[in-house]
Amino acid sequence: MTSENESLYSTASEILRSGGLVAFPTETVYGLGGDALSAESSKKIYAAKGRPSDNPLIVHIAETKSVYELAEEVPETAKILMEAFWPGPLTIILNKKASVPDETTGGLSTVAIRMPSHPVAAKLIKESGVYIAAPSANLSGRPSPTEASHVIEDMTGRIDMIIDGGPVGIGIESTIVDLSSGTPTILRPGFITKAMLETVIGPVEIDKALIEDDPTLRPKAPGMKYTHYAPKGELTIVASENGSISDNIEKIAEKINQLTKEKESHGFKTAVLTTKDNALLYKAENVILLGDERRGETVAARLYSALRECDDLGAEYIYSESYDDTDFGGAIMNRLIKAAGHRVVSV
Ligand code: TXA
Ligand code: MG
Repeated sequence: MTSENESLYSTASEILRSGGLVAFPTETVYGLGGDALSAESSKKIYAAKGRPSDNPLIVHIAETKSVYELAEEVPETAKILMEAFWPGPLTIILNKKASVPDETTGGLSTVAIRMPSHPVAAKLIKESGVYIAAPSANLSGRPSPTEASHVIEDMTGRIDMIIDGGPVGIGIESTIVDLSSGTPTILRPGFITKAMLETVIGPVEIDKALIEDDPTLRPKAPGMKYTHYAPKGELTIVASENGSISDNIEKIAEKINQLTKEKESHGFKTAVLTTKDNALLYKAENVILLGDERRGETVAARLYSALRECDDLGAEYIYSESYDDTDFGGAIMNRLIKAAGHRVVSV
């Protein structure tokens, strides 16, 4: 059903209130929603996604005052962040109230809360009167859905309703910041960057497991430990050893051309992920565009659908340029590296 249809909100609200599941658009990716205060609904979410139940869900709200019903303490830093970035792509982790079931938080004593800015998401939360627990609406391990067609692909027959609100705006999941203890810490990078958070609350750390190449470090967001967002083919990122990507784009393209030529000579199907300004450098059978130019917003908006296109093409080996770690680039690289299972070649 499309989001213009007024009666759909009453149908969706009824489903949510009676413990069913509804997929809906948010400004980041599509979510798979159920009643966050119902243990049974949360269990259904894990089952529909095929997701391990130790991986906690984000609770979506429509009014700031709801935070006080879900969180035990609301520190000053949380109030400042809520004021600055909500509604929007920022998830805040706080110590939870007993009313939030362990099934929703994967057994943790903290709860992840976010107020989405997408009008359909906001209206659904308000009209249903339900706090909506919603992971991304993909099957576990598949790229997150950025269009209703992706949700239909993964979730048909597994959930009660899918609301089509067209393509989402941002394309990668919300920034997660942990305020439950010590220094505010980013557990998952996203559109709201470290610098943006620091302008309003001062020093912010990044979970060490995200930046250090040390497999013994455990990410603080349980979901970040899984190979995620993975296309079916084997994805490799080609990075530049020294200097920015644009300084070394010729060498990167040469390497990617060498790799695709070799795979194609053995009869494999290949694909290259690049942006329009570099597309002519590549000789591979399939060149998939992530955006018009190397701007974070355009690349992020296309990333997950491009990974799904690689699957549709049956690409067995996929190569992507890397992205510089500036602003939004860090969040894009975080998703790409996970999709690639950490396969990175430097030239
Ligand atoms: O943009 C988004 O955040 C999307 C849309 C639908 O809102 N949702 C989303 O949910 O990305 P999901 O379930 O795919 O990712 C939630 C992430 C996981 O990595 C999970 O481990 C982490 O949030 N998380 C949730 N609650 C947590 C908690 N209490 N402590 C630490 N990490 C938590
Ligand atoms: Mg997800």
